[in-house]
Amino acid sequence: MQITEQFIKLDTPSTSLVFRRYSELLEIVYYGAKIGDAADYDILSSHKRKYAHSCADDVITANMTFSCYGMGCDRVFSLSLKNHDGGYANKFLFRGARAAEKPIIPGLPSSYGARETLMLVYYDEDYDLELRQYYSVFEDTDAIAVSSAIENRSAHDAVLRSFASCQLDTDGCGYTVFSYTGAWARERYPSVTQLSVGTFEQGTSRGSSSHAVNPFLMLRRPARMGGYLAFNLVYSGDHRERVECTPMHTTRITVGMDDAFLEHLLPSGSVFHSPEAVMLFGEHRADISLQMHRFVNGHIVPPCFLRERPVAVNLWEACGYRFDRGKVLEFADRAAEIGAELLVVDDGWFGRRDDEKTSLGDWTDNVEKTGGLKSLAEEVRSRGLKFGIWIEPEMVSPESELMRRFPQYVLRNPRREPILLRDQCVLDLTQREVWDYVLRCLRDLMELCSPDYIKWDYNRFITDAYHAPTSAGEEFSLRYIKALYALLARFREEYPGLLIESCAAGGGRYDLGMLCFTPQIWTSDMTDPVERIHIQEGTLAGYPQSTLSAHIASEVCQKTGRRTRLRDRFALALEGVFGIEYDLTQCSREELADLKQAVAFYKEHRDLLLYGDMFFAERAEDGEAAVHIIVSRDKTRAVALVFRLRQIFNCEQDKYRLCGLREDAVYRVGIYGSDRTWDVQGKLLLSHGLDLGAYFPKDRSGVFSNEINSLVLFLRQV
Ligand code: DGJ
Repeated sequence: MQITEQFIKLDTPSTSLVFRRYSELLEIVYYGAKIGDAADYDILSSHKRKYAHSCADDVITANMTFSCYGMGCDRVFSLSLKNHDGGYANKFLFRGARAAEKPIIPGLPSSYGARETLMLVYYDEDYDLELRQYYSVFEDTDAIAVSSAIENRSAHDAVLRSFASCQLDTDGCGYTVFSYTGAWARERYPSVTQLSVGTFEQGTSRGSSSHAVNPFLMLRRPARMGGYLAFNLVYSGDHRERVECTPMHTTRITVGMDDAFLEHLLPSGSVFHSPEAVMLFGEHRADISLQMHRFVNGHIVPPCFLRERPVAVNLWEACGYRFDRGKVLEFADRAAEIGAELLVVDDGWFGRRDDEKTSLGDWTDNVEKTGGLKSLAEEVRSRGLKFGIWIEPEMVSPESELMRRFPQYVLRNPRREPILLRDQCVLDLTQREVWDYVLRCLRDLMELCSPDYIKWDYNRFITDAYHAPTSAGEEFSLRYIKALYALLARFREEYPGLLIESCAAGGGRYDLGMLCFTPQIWTSDMTDPVERIHIQEGTLAGYPQSTLSAHIASEVCQKTGRRTRLRDRFALALEGVFGIEYDLTQCSREELADLKQAVAFYKEHRDLLLYGDMFFAERAEDGEAAVHIIVSRDKTRAVALVFRLRQIFNCEQDKYRLCGLREDAVYRVGIYGSDRTWDVQGKLLLSHGLDLGAYFPKDRSGVFSNEINSLVLFLRQV
């Protein structure tokens, strides 16, 4: 970090962020590839910025780190207050910058292991408010963690109406926005919006981060600037991202909590701290996922989980609610036989849960089904497997003991009945009594069967938040998420070694906040590879393979009815935390042998597959093919997943290039399922590609209705 009279410069391993100080305002004058310390930054901006209202040299066009009404600017605001006198205008003047401790954000998780933190301080003298912004950089990733805090130093209360975690103003307009949107079973489909002048806005007000739109966002800068920007938020609730390309040819990006219901009381003497955001510059698109992956693995996921994760067999897709002890043990036998390491009993083991209409909240062992969970878990373990169990602790079924006894636990508007989604209601975790009850249920479950793994599900979103501010003044969604984090933190503290996989009707809460507690997330209920490839590609754009739970499911997909090859389902499961989710008890000997081989392959390459660098030589979003490559840090090993998405009949060319490898090395290339290997120069693999047409499985029977056809390649430097 370099702080001089005029300039402040912050470096990451390959990027720099430079601010310039004018008398009372601070401008971002550079964010891009790393530059040296000795340079004369004066040439980066020739403006004479000042507070004025009439010319382009004022805050209207300055590239600021925050914005609010009252400073002569009419763009998207990152900060909005209702002051004690009823006015909405504020004027924060730059007071200074210094190196600081990375702040601990009360009640919210944030990244760890920063190398240094820069604090910027602004002050509004009219209302005695201090705005502090923190920029933390890391040794091994270009991601920058940013958060903002506002302190009310006046004798009066104020109300916070919006407060983004991070604002980045940048030059030019004409940005291309890559967002990751969808729905249940279609999460994080990549979507592209070209902006000339105007505003792109995305976000959610449903209480959970990511079924409709993920907080991860990427931008391609206009061609004359080059490079990419990316953003994310360490938060699991409502969020909002805005990209405003102005007629003055400047662009503002704000990232933070959603402000639709925000009316946060800021009592005299109090401080409000935003969730942490992440921003990143990369020269190439490949840098974005690579650097985000490093950030998540090295600074978000708790270090104790940065190890191999067990290969799971989960009963859900095959059995739903229909299973008994005999069935579970049959699964356990087959799971052990094929080399799996964890058996997961999903929904249906408790209360009278034979369908989705009952029993959430009544976490009592259904002994008729399980024959006793404790001994069932022991029997599973006696087969050399770990034991895992599902729970949905934040929910209650209207038809349940819990609801009958404590209807007041349900989250609702006091004037009407709560809206049912999936026949269930949300528990109001913000009530202390409810929070205690849920923690007790979790402890009881641990007591009951000492699971090695818990799948923490959340199958609906919030529709009945009662947004009345409490005396603490916090908006409901924030209070809910803080209560959830406190619960996860306490539970993890009590059972530190426990592996928790989070899930929200598939990937409805796939975000950096959850990943601070649960190292892996069930990506989506969509297990048809034709659909899933888009979901995984979208997810991998911002999140590493080690977070993405990916299971091989049955030949005929329950959702789409499409019949697909095991090879294709296998290839996709390799780029995540590998597991199996179909009826092993109905498999032929041949199928079991195939699965055994698949599991063995995954285990052999597990460290590489989970923690290697991920590259995309081709993307499914472009339509023809997808080539995803996972390369070891030293570039001596790689696994390449080649997906042909369209077979063009009678076509001579079927060549695929790889990337991420060393040009000057020679790699021995093998294809999964074939005995042949080839020694190929890195340069050829990168620039010419392999003619793989002859090696794709051929099947003209018409049994498989998918077009997707995949090959798994493994490479080792010779
Ligand atoms: C939704 C999850 O995504 C599924 O995997 C399964 O656990 C069901 N919930 C159980 O109700």
